[in-house]
Amino acid sequence: MRKPIIAGNWKMNMTPSEARKLVTELVPLVRDAACDVVVCTPAVDFAAVNEVIKGTNVKLGAENMHWEASGAFTGELSAAMLKESGVEYVILGHSERRQYFGETDATVNKRVLAAVKAGLTPIICVGEKKEDREAGYTNALVSYQTLIALSGLTADEVKRVVIAYEPVWAIGTGLTATDEQANETIGVIREAVRSVYGDAADDVRIQYGGSMKPANCKSLMAQPEIDGGLIGGASLKAEDFSKIVHFDA
Ligand code: 13P
Repeated sequence: MRKPIIAGNWKMNMTPSEARKLVTELVPLVRDAACDVVVCTPAVDFAAVNEVIKGTNVKLGAENMHWEASGAFTGELSAAMLKESGVEYVILGHSERRQYFGETDATVNKRVLAAVKAGLTPIICVGEKKEDREAGYTNALVSYQTLIALSGLTADEVKRVVIAYEPVWAIGTGLTATDEQANETIGVIREAVRSVYGDAADDVRIQYGGSMKPANCKSLMAQPEIDGGLIGGASLKAEDFSKIVHFDA
């Protein structure tokens, strides 16, 4: 059985003092969670968040990472920097990175390889745009994105990654994929993983992301293929995020 994982993606929100306040509210609300709980925060918040979550079941994630170990890459962060800052998870290939910052499947793959090598758990984002879905490309596209991102990993390494299926048209729009759409596409992603890595596919946790909130999390999480959520807007309020963490309450 795959343990569910609910992760917040704060995006470009929360100063360190705001971050401290949010996790201080969150920690007691999710203490008895049955799933893994992660907050992926801006790097400037790592220290403040760590002070509060240390020794709790809330784990720290980053929102991106460069693939090189060090060097002349102004503004970038390496895996070692994240590790030493107490980070355990790192979101890679988010559609906002692909859309606004020119990231490609090839550079997402480099990041994934570097993260896994460093012992970080990548949360690899894939998902189609509205026009892709309308043109009938969704399955081919998410399969391709997934297999390129994982390329070069062993089956044992693949078992430990997290994939987030985030239809771009559902992010921050209030539109959610239906439970069936999300379940079906996540099933397609799992079969793509199986086609190369065999039964390792059964261990890979695949989240849904895109306007997931307290009101819709329960039925999404009840779908057999959906192993968790990557939560944007609703992760910025402790109460909402904790309700998603307790999706089966
Ligand atoms: P929203 O939950 O705000 O739609 O964002 C989803 C997302 O992009 C998480 O990575």
